[in-house]
Amino acid sequence: MSHDKHQEFYDSLAAEWDLMFTAEDLERLSHLVDTFEIEPGYDVLDLGCGTGILFDMLRRRVGPEGTVTGVDFSFQMARRAHRNFPFDNVNVVDADATNLPFRADTFDMAFSFSSFDNFSDQRKALDEAHRVLKPGANFCIIYLVSSHELSDQHKQAGGVLAGDKLPTRERMGELFDVSHFDTVRIDDQPGLYFACAINVK
Ligand SMILES: C[S@@+](CC[C@H](N)C(=O)[O-])C[C@H]1O[C@@H](n2cnc3c(N)ncnc32)[C@H](O)[C@@H]1O
Repeated sequence: MSHDKHQEFYDSLAAEWDLMFTAEDLERLSHLVDTFEIEPGYDVLDLGCGTGILFDMLRRRVGPEGTVTGVDFSFQMARRAHRNFPFDNVNVVDADATNLPFRADTFDMAFSFSSFDNFSDQRKALDEAHRVLKPGANFCIIYLVSSHELSDQHKQAGGVLAGDKLPTRERMGELFDVSHFDTVRIDDQPGLYFACAINVK
């Protein structure tokens, strides 16, 4: 795995990460996840999973026949996620979203919550999502803030995050297109961002 400054940064935050979320955040996130069609039995991928904040919401929807696989390249985040969710149908992999250790056509759906802006090569991450998703599968990039709110937060935080941002609406559409996703839906408003598209193979 090539070195990325985000790894050390998130390693250092892993122990405190779960304290970042309020009950209200979790409720809003759960409502957002509810708006996507996650079927029982699905194998779902969570890219940049952190400590696994999405896992419980996804697990409830895929049920015992489905699986949840989280990927994070911060070893400490991945370790916490694994510790937080010791279930047979939850897998955590310490890997880079731009170089996924999965076979083609493995997953029925993928999410990336609050992480896509961190990916050093967003194009490559989308190419990899395309490869590991089954034909017709959805990929949803989600946030509980708008793209502008996210940029403002990062500017204030500075350091490693200072330059991280979401692509413009137009650029996001282009990125999905070149990575062979279509039916792009983007919603970018105060308190919410999602960009979803369907994998075409
Ligand atoms: C802002 S945190 C969000 C974590 C989690 N989704 C949440 O909301 O609690 C971003 C996460 O993405 C991970 N990340 C950043 N770039 C990555 C990459 N290229 N591959 C895998 N994980 C990455 C970081 O290690 C970090 O855990």
